[in-house]
Amino acid sequence: MQLTTREIDILQHTFLDYRSTEDFIQNPLVLHRAQGLYCWDTAGKRYFDAIGGVFVALLGHGHPRVMAAMREQMERMTFAPPLHGIADVTLDFVEKLGSVCPGDLRYVNPFSGGSEAVESAFKFARQYFKQSGHPGKYKFISRYSSYHGGTFGGMSASGTGERKAKFEPQMPGFLKVFPPTFYRDQFASWEEANRFAAQSVEDVIVAEGPETVAGFIVEPIGNTGGIITPTSEYFQLLRDICTRHNVLLIFDEVITGFAKTGHMFAAQTFGVTPDILCVGKGISSGAVPLGAMVAREDLAEAFRGSSADGKFFAHGHTFAGNPLACAVGIAVIDEILEKDLCAKAVRLGAYLARRLQDLQKLGIVREIRGKGILLGVELVRDTASMAPFPELGIALKRTALRNGLILRIDPTWFAVAPPLIAEESDLDEMCGLIEKSIREALDEARDECPNTHCSTVANRGR
Ligand SMILES: Cc1ncc(COP(=O)(O)O)c(C=O)c1O
Repeated sequence: MQLTTREIDILQHTFLDYRSTEDFIQNPLVLHRAQGLYCWDTAGKRYFDAIGGVFVALLGHGHPRVMAAMREQMERMTFAPPLHGIADVTLDFVEKLGSVCPGDLRYVNPFSGGSEAVESAFKFARQYFKQSGHPGKYKFISRYSSYHGGTFGGMSASGTGERKAKFEPQMPGFLKVFPPTFYRDQFASWEEANRFAAQSVEDVIVAEGPETVAGFIVEPIGNTGGIITPTSEYFQLLRDICTRHNVLLIFDEVITGFAKTGHMFAAQTFGVTPDILCVGKGISSGAVPLGAMVAREDLAEAFRGSSADGKFFAHGHTFAGNPLACAVGIAVIDEILEKDLCAKAVRLGAYLARRLQDLQKLGIVREIRGKGILLGVELVRDTASMAPFPELGIALKRTALRNGLILRIDPTWFAVAPPLIAEESDLDEMCGLIEKSIREALDEARDECPNTHCSTVANRGR
């Protein structure tokens, strides 16, 4: 799309998330409206939103049920003052979200997004241990290649180097282990790499001293590392390790929550119940900012008592539990349950995985991974060398937008998570756009790539 002089001027007076304004101006996207599976830019060009914004619009944009719930709540009340009261609809949301969480995860704190949910989990865990006889437990372990938010705690737990190096030193007490992908070429099987990665968590806990470690936070499927999808055994091992050392297992389900992986939460997909769950993104299908932290009910016992005891959770945000957001959250959960969207994610996901497998004919796909409709495709220079091919991902960012397609693209992989209102025919349209964009990106990458071998790859499977 072409930016106006006014748009360029305004863009130069703001910051964009994790990217350079100058690069954005070269390959811009200024959106004006969105409906269902599509967004339109200011020039009226339509884009297939293959990622629901950014793993957010899981019911598509402007879902009628969500819009109706918002309108109804908007007429009644849009804000309740947190220090003096709580909205009735916030109580309904707490009950509703608690009712769909696994195990005895019933203690719900609504917030305005994923980072707030993650920060709250860290504060909750530290205060819990202080008030339950283990005041020395304060450290958190997380994984390299992870992303847990843009705030200081979330960033300190995140393992994406380039996003945090600028802000060092990070908060003390945050330690890292590698995800299973780091070890995959060092072991004969993926299962063994997963076992080793899980064992490394226990090794760090023991080396640090279990009496100092409060929690281990993990995305069940790691987006920033390229849709890292461990085995179920990995999570079972983590569950056992955390229980053994009285370390809270925190699942960051900001991306994986709400039906995408075939269950309400990826915790159920992998068959493991964490002690704390952090959610965001899809919980509002993108209509309003909403997130939540959900904790095991018995952990909340440590916070009971009168104000004079000072045991209450010393945490809050002005917009936490906002009535409008809570009305939306209830509508989204009801829609998932009534339309059985978890089952639909399994059915659509199987179809989508088969369609993405077709890309193998291009000879540049190392692996397709993920669960349900949350899938990632790892791109390589060729399947003989499995060498990374970052020029391809960079070119794909341009060609996808040119072809009216919104994906999550990294230089070495791309991800899709189409809204659950899609049908097979929509996925055909989406996969057609993906293949066209990859072929064009291969041509462009070949032009930029001095290695003539790239041109062979570009023509493969035509
Ligand atoms: C796994 C994960 N956790 C936390 C966050 C932070 O959420 P938010 O951007 O809503 O603050 C994100 C955002 O992308 C995320 O992907």
